[in-house]
Amino acid sequence: MKQHELVEKNVGLLALFMVLAVSLGGLVQIVPLFFQASVNEPVEGLKPYTALELEGRDIYIANGCVGCHSQMIRPFRAETERYGHYSVAGESVWEHPFLWGSKRTGPDLARVGGRYSNEWHRAHLYNPRNVVPESKMPGYPWLVERKLDGKHTAQRMEAMRTLGVPYSDADIAGAKEAVVGKTEMDALVAYLQVLGTSIKNKR
Ligand code: HEC
Repeated sequence: MKQHELVEKNVGLLALFMVLAVSLGGLVQIVPLFFQASVNEPVEGLKPYTALELEGRDIYIANGCVGCHSQMIRPFRAETERYGHYSVAGESVWEHPFLWGSKRTGPDLARVGGRYSNEWHRAHLYNPRNVVPESKMPGYPWLVERKLDGKHTAQRMEAMRTLGVPYSDADIAGAKEAVVGKTEMDALVAYLQVLGTSIKNKR
């Protein structure tokens, strides 16, 4: 009892023990994750983004889509019935930076790939009211005008490779050719169409 009183009356000591307790708890939770295959190995069938999809991902970031859309389906029935299989860590191992988001003004997009046609996405991104009359999402009409020049595509893929994404030399060598002349709309739609497709059980 004596020792306890000592700690309670000595704020410095109390703070020290609190820091120790929180750090230890944190380590016990975090450290094992570095060694667990289920969280640091890609799920079966996961493919790195193609050059065009990777450009699309950058356009997604540049246009702030992540401010209204999450890419993280939680393991709750209401979520899985609406969006499909909950997100698993192995799907995100090559995401740099990850785009899980936390704001859902619009629906989650983690498994939007293949849910609509390319034409639907084009019409929707140009002006969402074209296909969803009550939509509050802003239109992105400039996406069809802006063309990709592919100047930095190879560099982007190299940066990803440095971070562990398994791009081959051939992927990187062909990067510019794969995107040059395509519009930002082409790239963004290609990206959206691949989201969440590595897991079969959709909904
Ligand atoms: C201001 C918030 C906001 C922003 C920013 C925004 N969205 Fe949306 N989005 C919505 C809302 C609300 C909906 C639901 C209505 C609709 O379908 O248009 C939606 C729907 C969607 C859907 C259909 C999803 C589904 O399952 O039906 C897609 C795909 C989508 N948005 C992609 C994008 C992309 C790509 C961007 C960035 C270029 C973007 N959104 C930016 C609010 C937003």
